Amino acid sequence: MKSERRSTKASTLGERILKVDHAGEQGAVNIYRAQILVARWTAPSLVPELQEFKSHEEKHRALFWAELQRRGVRRCRSYWLCGVGGWVLGLMTGLLGRHAISATTVAVERVVLGHLKAQLRDLSGKDDAAVHVIAQIVEEEQLHHDQSASHVQTGHVWSKLLSPVVAASTESVIWLGMRL
Ligand SMILES: [Fe+2]
Ligand SMILES: [Fe+2]
Repeated sequence: MKSERRSTKASTLGERILKVDHAGEQGAVNIYRAQILVARWTAPSLVPELQEFKSHEEKHRALFWAELQRRGVRRCRSYWLCGVGGWVLGLMTGLLGRHAISATTVAVERVVLGHLKAQLRDLSGKDDAAVHVIAQIVEEEQLHHDQSASHVQTGHVWSKLLSPVVAASTESVIWLGMRL
């Protein structure tokens, strides 16, 4: 008999969180992908760092995807939205130069870290496998935040203008993903 496990919708809190985080990593990969594309002209000194961050995000995406596949859960409907949104955000901020690039990472990671820490709290004792995956990425997200924050002063114009917009977009996409 052919035993084929069909991918299903997420049913538990852990599964919903895993698929949202997986979609978020796709967004993060594309932010860096687009920023790298234009930073060669607008912020060449940042390119090695952006490449390093992108490789972390690809690893995070793979970790979440492996856990989703193990559970037979399909990816989030917000995956493509995150991908396109991330790419557009990365391209626009990449064109604006190094301050805008770093301010974007700081704003995204601040929201992401808040969610990751809440997810770890909410899933503790309920879904150890999900906790294990999330715990593996927190340190690198913190590094992205801290390293980028060291490049940009909080009072800088891009930090002031971009932070609320980027933070609100990140919050919305997470909110939406949890409901899809
Ligand atoms: Fe990540
Ligand atoms: Fe990150």
